[in-house]
Amino acid sequence: MKVDNFRLQLGKQEYIPIVIGGMGVNISTTELALAAEKLGGIGHISDAEVCYVCDQIFSTSYTTRKRKKYSYNVNNPDKSDVHFDLGDIAEAQKMYVEHTVSRKSGNGAVFMNCMEKLTMRDSSETLRARLSAAMDAGIDGLTLAAGLNLRTLDLIKDHPRFHDVKIGIIISSLRALNIFLKRAIRLRRIPDYIVVEGPLAGGHLGFSPEDWKTYDLYTIVKEVLDFLKSEDLAIPVIPAGGIFTGGDAVRFLQAGASAVQVATRFTITKESGLPNEVKQHYINTEKENIVVNTVSPTGYPMRMLKTSPVLNYSIRPNCEGFGYLLDNKGKCGYIDSYYKALAAKEKGQRLTITDQTCLCTGMAKYDCWTCGDTTYRLKETTNKMADGSWQLPFAEDIFLDYQFSEGQHIEKPSLAEKVNN
Ligand SMILES: Cc1cc2nc3c(=O)[nH]c(=O)nc-3n(C[C@H](O)[C@H](O)[C@H](O)COP(=O)(O)O)c2cc1C
Repeated sequence: MKVDNFRLQLGKQEYIPIVIGGMGVNISTTELALAAEKLGGIGHISDAEVCYVCDQIFSTSYTTRKRKKYSYNVNNPDKSDVHFDLGDIAEAQKMYVEHTVSRKSGNGAVFMNCMEKLTMRDSSETLRARLSAAMDAGIDGLTLAAGLNLRTLDLIKDHPRFHDVKIGIIISSLRALNIFLKRAIRLRRIPDYIVVEGPLAGGHLGFSPEDWKTYDLYTIVKEVLDFLKSEDLAIPVIPAGGIFTGGDAVRFLQAGASAVQVATRFTITKESGLPNEVKQHYINTEKENIVVNTVSPTGYPMRMLKTSPVLNYSIRPNCEGFGYLLDNKGKCGYIDSYYKALAAKEKGQRLTITDQTCLCTGMAKYDCWTCGDTTYRLKETTNKMADGSWQLPFAEDIFLDYQFSEGQHIEKPSLAEKVNN
């Protein structure tokens, strides 16, 4: 039995049941999403720090303009003045989505991962602007992430595409699903799919740093499937987190899941946005180097490599240019930690901040090496070359391995491709 024996049905469309999860900031690039789409699966782009991402791709200047506008405030711990321009957000989001969807060439789809916790100093209006612009620009689906997303559907209920765009929710417990569904049912907008993200995933986690080890994705997925059956709700369920082989995926599909969402295996592909030296670092990493910590100002635990440069940051908060994690009062945990550490610092001492980090900067600069729990197994998935470095596979290699390999077999990329590395 292999993944290819199954199909994901979303509305009238049928897909290969492999979804590449959203990885911000621009780790799941346009090219990575399109690779899945071309092969008949589903790829995600992420709208994390979309203005900055556009600056990198299209040489726009959203970040420098914003930084300039608020330059008078850079030494002020009070960031309540600093706002995003909603027009800029919509323009950037449209540009990024259009750039991606206009290049689709297969039978798959491109979805966008939208995180509620990306509060951007005005959590509702900035999220509304991002979601609406993505729909205007023709995105196939919106995956609502990082938060309970209780009010998110209300933000877009009057959009002309509200019932036509695919909408999915990421949850880590049946409780969170129930909370979301209550509102969705009242709005008569049942989600088109449910991603159940377990404790082994990359990025932010819906579990506490103390107890994530006590949870198991398979058990949560079974609970969700049983619940949906008991409620007569036919919503496709997509497990995510630690699904490393085709055989792992088949286990979930046989249990009633409709597809799987995977990410870690794709972090080291040529199409991933991570710099090549970071990809090599991911492959070389050992299990002891993978930790779940609480340095993210979002308040959610996050999995990352212990060697992430972001863990040694002592930079001045960069909210005038970035500010993606400022809450509605203009606050962020890193600002508090930074100014506390600054006040306590003796002359000549190095400024050290250990409890929080400037995640906006860290993610933008690829200094936060967030990863899934299985990252230490990436060595099993590719070839070591004569110079000691690892071959970086194409996303297609990994996708086809998931689709066609049986059991725990992992098909490594063809050695002929090494020439192009
Ligand atoms: C490098 C990396 C970055 C991620 N960033 C995000 C993100 O921005 N938003 C999100 O909802 N999930 C994020 N995730 C989670 C993935 O979308 C996915 O659900 C999960 O990692 C799948 O498990 P796997 O990595 O074990 O295959 C990220 C995962 C990785 C590995």
